Amino acid sequence: MTENTENKNNISEHTDTHEYDGIKELNNPSPLWVILLFFATIAFSGFYAIKYFGYPDNGMDQKSEYLASIEEKKMKMNSAEGSVGNQSDAEMIVAGEKIYNEKGCIACHGSKGEGNAIGPNLCDNNWIHGCKIDEIKKVIKEGVPEKGMTPFKSTLSDKQIGQLAVFISKKLVGTNPANGKAAQGTECK
Ligand code: HEC
Repeated sequence: MTENTENKNNISEHTDTHEYDGIKELNNPSPLWVILLFFATIAFSGFYAIKYFGYPDNGMDQKSEYLASIEEKKMKMNSAEGSVGNQSDAEMIVAGEKIYNEKGCIACHGSKGEGNAIGPNLCDNNWIHGCKIDEIKKVIKEGVPEKGMTPFKSTLSDKQIGQLAVFISKKLVGTNPANGKAAQGTECK
């Protein structure tokens, strides 16, 4: 009996303002484990915000991850030298060498890329127009008509030009053929 009265007192203590049509709302505190769980979720949200929203600038947010994955793809493409499809460097070198021999590059750059009275040495590491694959591709594509380098954009596809660029930078450069023409341009670092 006493227990019951206590309960009643308890109830009236906690229901001062919430009584409608005789229905009383109890106001029992949550059990400890629920409260702990609640704080645990708050703590976790802090950890989550820092780790996955990339705060402060830790590179783990979606945008950074996206940019990183783009970078990775770009690296992959560059190592295949932006080829259409996914030829390996070795395949591109073989294809590039064939084009080099067949499309008249020899006339001005020599059969081994050694250069001659007209065109520069393609085997040294000095470049008039830059040593990056993109720069080499651009020279082949657009040419340097005023200096005698033919533009090849209308005779060769982008893929073929890419293959030539890989052939030059990965096969010719570093070889030291006989009668090599003196270096021109600046050394590629
Ligand atoms: C009619 C002559 C001629 C032909 C054909 C020719 N080139 Fe050239 N090439 C030149 C000359 C001249 C230059 C130097 C341009 C300059 O001084 O700006 C040059 C420059 C280059 C360069 C830049 C070198 C550097 O140091 O930056 C590359 C790469 C190149 N040629 C590749 C080729 C390839 C590949 C072919 C064949 C598809 C080819 N060339 C055909 C005359 C020629």
